[in-house]
Amino acid sequence: MNTRILPVSTAAATERRLVEHVDRLAQEHPPIDLDSVDYSVRRPDLLAARYGHVLDYMARVELEVDRNVLELTTMLPDPPEVDRYFYADVWQPQEIRHGIVLDRLQVELGRPPAVADVDTVSAKLEVLGALAHLGAFQDVVRMLYYLTGMATERSAVLAYNLLHDGVLELGEEAVARTVIAPIRRQEPGHYAFYQLSARGLWSELTTWQQWLVRQLRRRSFGPVGTNNAEQRADFGDVMLTLGIADDSDRFATQIARVEQELLWAHTTGLPVPPYVLAAFRDALALARQR
Ligand SMILES: [Fe+2]
Ligand SMILES: [Fe+2]
Repeated sequence: MNTRILPVSTAAATERRLVEHVDRLAQEHPPIDLDSVDYSVRRPDLLAARYGHVLDYMARVELEVDRNVLELTTMLPDPPEVDRYFYADVWQPQEIRHGIVLDRLQVELGRPPAVADVDTVSAKLEVLGALAHLGAFQDVVRMLYYLTGMATERSAVLAYNLLHDGVLELGEEAVARTVIAPIRRQEPGHYAFYQLSARGLWSELTTWQQWLVRQLRRRSFGPVGTNNAEQRADFGDVMLTLGIADDSDRFATQIARVEQELLWAHTTGLPVPPYVLAAFRDALALARQR
């Protein structure tokens, strides 16, 4: 429930734009056709040695979309229809194919398949979900969901760009063209959905809801796909291989640009929230220690 009155036309216009956006994604970006993928590789050993762990990381995170959907239904007992439309009809069907294709590729290279956790919803999310039965709190949880979605999808776009170029440099054109390129084409549409949602909802939140979002976000931010120290170190290794490590602060700034603008612009004047910088530096430190 919002006490601040928004012109009805603003909220309604945002929702209409969101529905149109999801319609467009559904039409223009069907899930990748598994028969369109060419797994032929010129030098499997080299590709595996260089990028095997990156493929494994991304395959795991993409396959865990099924857990993410469970988490969503736990966290948001009563979501707006357009959220459900997006995650159930567009996002999950696309992401699961990304996972299947990447995992098949690493198996073709002689690596074991990814070990994805598809059904453990954390106790923390259960608590959020219980509180979210209060309408005002559900809006806080939704905001956290959109912020996480933005950071995750932006990370994916940047990582797939770097992976695409790296794979091409190794001369693996079939993989670049039929695996990585089709996947990376679908990520910006996900990012756009979350960004539009985040901007719309933030402007509707009351001061205390915004305050609570800031506190919870600061305590819960983590790089995509990290739920424990080992996965944070794995993410650090991905940063090292993709060349993000040398410029980790710039990467963090790109990931969190809109989050910074919405949540923190008036309070800190920094280019990026400190907890985002710290999270990426921590992942790198863990990878280097290992
Ligand atoms: Fe994906
Ligand atoms: Fe995505």
